[in-house]
Amino acid sequence: MEHRRRSKIADLLKSKDFGIELLVKGWVRTKREKKNFAFIELNDGSTVKSIQIFADYFVLEKNLFSQNTLDNSLDPESYNTIINYLKPVTTGSCIAVKGILVESVGQGQSVEIRANHIEIYGTADPESYPLQKKGHGLEFLREIAHLRPRTNTFGAVLRIRHAMAFAIHKYFNDNGFYYIHTPIITGSDAEGAGAMFRVTTLDDRNPPLLPDGHLDYTQDFFGKETKLTVSGQLEAELGAMALSLVYTFGPTFRAENSNTPRHLAEFWMIEPEMAFYDINDNMDLAEDFVKYLMQYALDHCPDDLEFLNKMYDNELIDRLKGVVSSRFKRLTYTQAIEILQASGQTFEFPVDWGADLQAEHERYLVEKHFGKPVILTDYPRDIKAFYMKQNPDGKTVRGMDVLFPKIGEIIGGSQREENLDALRNRIHEMNIPEKDVWWYLDTRKFGTAPHAGFGLGFERLILFVTGMANIRDVIPFPRTPKNAEF
Ligand code: 4AD
Ligand code: MG
Repeated sequence: MEHRRRSKIADLLKSKDFGIELLVKGWVRTKREKKNFAFIELNDGSTVKSIQIFADYFVLEKNLFSQNTLDNSLDPESYNTIINYLKPVTTGSCIAVKGILVESVGQGQSVEIRANHIEIYGTADPESYPLQKKGHGLEFLREIAHLRPRTNTFGAVLRIRHAMAFAIHKYFNDNGFYYIHTPIITGSDAEGAGAMFRVTTLDDRNPPLLPDGHLDYTQDFFGKETKLTVSGQLEAELGAMALSLVYTFGPTFRAENSNTPRHLAEFWMIEPEMAFYDINDNMDLAEDFVKYLMQYALDHCPDDLEFLNKMYDNELIDRLKGVVSSRFKRLTYTQAIEILQASGQTFEFPVDWGADLQAEHERYLVEKHFGKPVILTDYPRDIKAFYMKQNPDGKTVRGMDVLFPKIGEIIGGSQREENLDALRNRIHEMNIPEKDVWWYLDTRKFGTAPHAGFGLGFERLILFVTGMANIRDVIPFPRTPKNAEF
């Protein structure tokens, strides 16, 4: 078969180029055999929909052997040859089809391709191909993460994930933000957002030890102990103190042993950081940003959203529209505690001022009490990071969490403490060695400015936009405790 440009199935399904010969390539979803022809459903990942290939044995036989049988009668021998030739065209096999686009007479599709030639690139033995049958559970698919992009569900999730990543860059670019790349390997653990993974090239059989038995990191690759970052925020702040509006979007790592449907050990985070923003500007940006992303998905991913809405969550599209049209409820942590205490609900975890809110508390506020996204502010300072701007009451800080239905916390952020003395006192109180954060303190020493920022968990966003229930199902290769096979 000659190698010219293939058409994408997404384009063909909208095309009216009837009668023109074209080339499609993709993976077979199903084949239905009849006496003189077969229907093949072909998918190339450009859309959740497959295109129907009408494979007429007579036409294929004629073209395969380039014999022009004048009387149009079928030579029984070559007829069997074509049936044998098409045998390995089974679910999961990969083929190229040259054929004519025609209006479909059958139900369920508007166009189909009448095949003139079929070339088989790769077979998929029905006895051993794990996706031979339809309707596998999501848990089984996690065990075959290398093949699950072939399913309609993961195709839809991956396309939406791509669209959201693109929309994030577009939003910031259109609003005058600069994308800065913050390091993945870091020498500081100042954030305190969670346990960290160590990065080392020390010989594990014969590691250099100090007299006290600890590893001698001066002999390690970087000459000091290094870890995988939990957040790009501190470095983003350095950028904001020069470029005013910046964001990072990269992988972050947390070595917590939390096996929940909302936690990954490796996840992606979007962290904008804005000079001259206070906590209210920060909330305005966060709300505008996530609404923009939901609207972008509604506008650009209608087929995938309809598929997920039908298959997994029939309130998905309504929920997305609901977020776009709602005004997020803003209240303080203290007010939230009062609401929870007056709710009459029995929670697994007690509701006490000073304790971190649990997912059950957050979801009560969002789903039952307010019925829309909620932004909580002014958290007790003892449960928040050292960099948050301290309130005059001496008890709370200008942190904010954006809470979503079904997800709970989707964004965490704050106004930052820009006052050098206040920040220094806080790091001393929290026993953070000044030698670890001297560079961070320098921004408060030289040309400090009020500023704020937040972090959006990318996979939590994708969970919400796809309606999937488990965070392992919205990232191609999830990293969770005891799981890094693929
Ligand atoms: O609230 P977090 O820990 O905030 C920070 O890291 C700040 N440095 C952000 C900033 O102000 N620039 O994390 C931010 C978000 C959470 O709201 C959540 O959506 C997501 O990151 N997140 C996780 N997502 C998946 N798995 C985990 N283990 C996550 N931990 C946090
Ligand atoms: Mg948080």
